[in-house]
Amino acid sequence: HRETRGFGIDKLNFYTPNQYVDLVELARARCVDPDKYLIGIGQERMAVAPVDQDIVSMGANAAEPLLDDVTRASLGLLVLGTESGIDQSKAAALFVHQLLALPEGMRVMEIKEACYGATAGLMVALDFVRSHPDRRALVIASDIARYGLDTPGEVTQGAGAVAMIVSADPTVLAIEPGTVVASRSTYDFWRPNYSTVAFAQGKYSEEVYLAMFRDAWNRASQMGLTCPEGLAAQLFHIPFSKMGRKGLRTLQGMMTDDDYGRLANRFEDSIRYGRQVGNIYTGSLYLGLISLLENDSSLRPGDRMGLFSYGSGSEAELFFGKLCSGFQSELNSAGHRAMLEGRTKLCVEEYERVFNAGLVQDGSRQVLERSDFDAPHYLTGLDRHQRL
Ligand code: HMG
Repeated sequence: HRETRGFGIDKLNFYTPNQYVDLVELARARCVDPDKYLIGIGQERMAVAPVDQDIVSMGANAAEPLLDDVTRASLGLLVLGTESGIDQSKAAALFVHQLLALPEGMRVMEIKEACYGATAGLMVALDFVRSHPDRRALVIASDIARYGLDTPGEVTQGAGAVAMIVSADPTVLAIEPGTVVASRSTYDFWRPNYSTVAFAQGKYSEEVYLAMFRDAWNRASQMGLTCPEGLAAQLFHIPFSKMGRKGLRTLQGMMTDDDYGRLANRFEDSIRYGRQVGNIYTGSLYLGLISLLENDSSLRPGDRMGLFSYGSGSEAELFFGKLCSGFQSELNSAGHRAMLEGRTKLCVEEYERVFNAGLVQDGSRQVLERSDFDAPHYLTGLDRHQRL
């Protein structure tokens, strides 16, 4: 084995569909005080996936810009984490593998554990590159969060994908081997096979999230992993920004005011993109990482951060990473801002129409209109129970 400077995220990118709902308008339509959504939940806009952007096309759209010929040829593993699966059998990752023209001689799979799925993929990818330091892995998180119209969860929907290249000698974030992980079976949030929308015991899900964060932080502290004076930022799984804020607040009093103030300032930059996109389930933690890196110009190579991943059901992992030299060169702040600002606003009636628009279920032919001409990948339709 050759010497490396570590293993971690070499490149990363996100994609979100080109339509959104303004949450002040949604609040008015639902006869709710807009401040409940803006402050109480902490969200401003919510991405809406048109019927021709599914988890496959969104995942491929997120990954496409990361792939030059050298990277493509070096890939040995593709893992796609999702909880919005399109098939009970065939991995969504195989469709992505074809769309991105990836090599045949690689492992390709889909992985599921609610919002933890992409972290599971990242951990598998890290093990893979540790044992194959000359190869790279592609990890994709892609999801459409659906709770149903006029439900308490409605305002916490969203859609989008994050793609990450994992390698030895990474350019963005070297991930440390020491992590804290916990598994507990709960019914805080779930989606049975027969349902297109999720069920949640909302308040209970917040309690489990916070309890698992507190326990993970305490165990990491006992292991000497947290050391707040050396932590530049703490990132959270962000189903809606208030949830991460509640997680952050549990740390107040456990560190000096200066250390807490630094984490609190950086938290604001980590939620900027998510406040515009909503919950993208598996990708939410990593959207927060991109948001922080692209909105906080004070971060420097060597800065260390904690990442808390939570998936309902429930699985939690707290891990740590250090920014690598040259991480700034892998960011795409202007492109991502343009993508968010260039979206079309849907009025509430249009959003409800898109929400209710379904794909045929009986194997007949359906041709879809292309919604996003800037996105290279999209679903063109269905025929004989196959996605095209
Ligand atoms: P709700 O019924 O809207 O809750 O459900 P609420 O009435 O208590 O209001 C929410 C907050 O708004 C409260 O603040 C209110 O005080 C505040 P909090 O006590 O939470 O700090 N509020 C106002 N603030 C300012 N001005 C006002 C105002 N009115 C009220 N006028 C809930 C909220 C999040 C439970 C719901 O949206 C839900 O069920 N969401 C889905 C579940 C969820 O996201 N859970 C998060 C933890 S689990 C997780 O993260 C995993 C997940 O991503 C899935 C996966 O892993 O796959 C979800």
